Amino acid sequence: MSVHKIAVIAGDGIGPEVIEEGVKVLEAVARIAGGFSFEFTHFPWGCEYYLEHGTMMPEDGLEQLQKFDAVYLGAVGYPGVPDHISLRELLLKIRKQFDQYVNVRPVRLLQGAPCPLKDVTRDQIDMVVIRENSEGEYSGAGDWLFRGKPEEVVLQTGVFSRKGTERIIRYAYELARKMGKSLTSISKANALNYSMVFWDQVFEEVGREYPDVETKSYLVDAASMYFVKQPERFQIVVTSNLFGDIITDLGAAIAGGMGLAAGANLNPERIYPSMFEPIHGSAPDIAHKGIANPLAAIWSASQILDFFGHEGWGANVLDVIEQVMVDKKALTPDMGGTATTVDVGTEVVALLSTIHIKHV
Ligand SMILES: NC(=O)c1ccc[n+]([C@@H]2O[C@H](COP(=O)([O-])OP(=O)(O)OC[C@H]3O[C@@H](n4cnc5c(N)ncnc54)[C@H](O)[C@@H]3O)[C@@H](O)[C@H]2O)c1
Repeated sequence: MSVHKIAVIAGDGIGPEVIEEGVKVLEAVARIAGGFSFEFTHFPWGCEYYLEHGTMMPEDGLEQLQKFDAVYLGAVGYPGVPDHISLRELLLKIRKQFDQYVNVRPVRLLQGAPCPLKDVTRDQIDMVVIRENSEGEYSGAGDWLFRGKPEEVVLQTGVFSRKGTERIIRYAYELARKMGKSLTSISKANALNYSMVFWDQVFEEVGREYPDVETKSYLVDAASMYFVKQPERFQIVVTSNLFGDIITDLGAAIAGGMGLAAGANLNPERIYPSMFEPIHGSAPDIAHKGIANPLAAIWSASQILDFFGHEGWGANVLDVIEQVMVDKKALTPDMGGTATTVDVGTEVVALLSTIHIKHV
């Protein structure tokens, strides 16, 4: 029996509400599947912790997390604590220190999911966006000169190392090869004459090792248009930190909204724990009302299953999410229903026990 040790940082606002349902689903899967189990350890870190202790997590927080196989995170951020503190001192710190340089965001239109695009079928939106997660425009490099003076100058430097650029592009090529899909690089070499020219060059260089992978390359502005007009152009997508951040929200919008979007932050070498999270925030406007949609958190639970080698069960969870949306019996208000967060989790667990399990 293998035991997967998960550190749970439920965080703020709706974080704890949706994560509870994700945990419930993982426990149910382990029960039904047999052969593996999960051990969850909860950490009360986040904005409430900050207001009490002055830090988002204890000084040895990363050391404590290091002992786990994965981190399952709800959301952080709450009125009263500046967003740059909650984001930088917890989420970004974990991503950076644990070298989670791959951000994987599935953009897949499940049956029954609300889609704002006209006449789009399910098979037209089915991609995986691989976003560089450790450097680029979010590396925090730069300067603020002559602050407050008329000659004030700010510099925000995009950092693209050969190691960082090569490894993310190689990861994407490997995935495209494994899945037998095309790979699209999104950049902006016409305007960013150092970083993105370099990015395009590395994409081409690494590509020589993968002659079997069909490739495309788009400028980020054109890619944004195609995401909306012809999303079927994209299968596996690789892009920089900033472009990935923006384009995956666009991806979430065309594939069912924030209540459905999940993301994994991977350290592929598994030297450090990887982190899984719904990509929505803490939604203070609906917190503590029990109406948050837990499906994004449950989708990230399916990514946890994939990560531990239980891909069949990851696929089963996605099938069940799809079934929930088709049945429309247990949907939260953001999806037009009247169910509570707990109702949706309970429905997923019930369906897992009864549906014909397709993938094992
Ligand atoms: N990964 C993270 O932890 C993360 C990500 C984004 C924002 N934040 C933080 O969250 C706080 C709120 O940010 P925001 O309002 O810009 O974004 P948000 O994602 O929290 O909310 C945006 C809108 O979507 C709705 N929404 C989000 N998730 C939902 C769900 N599961 N079910 C139903 N409705 C949902 C909210 O009610 C709100 O109307 C801020 O402090 C921000 O910094 C954290």
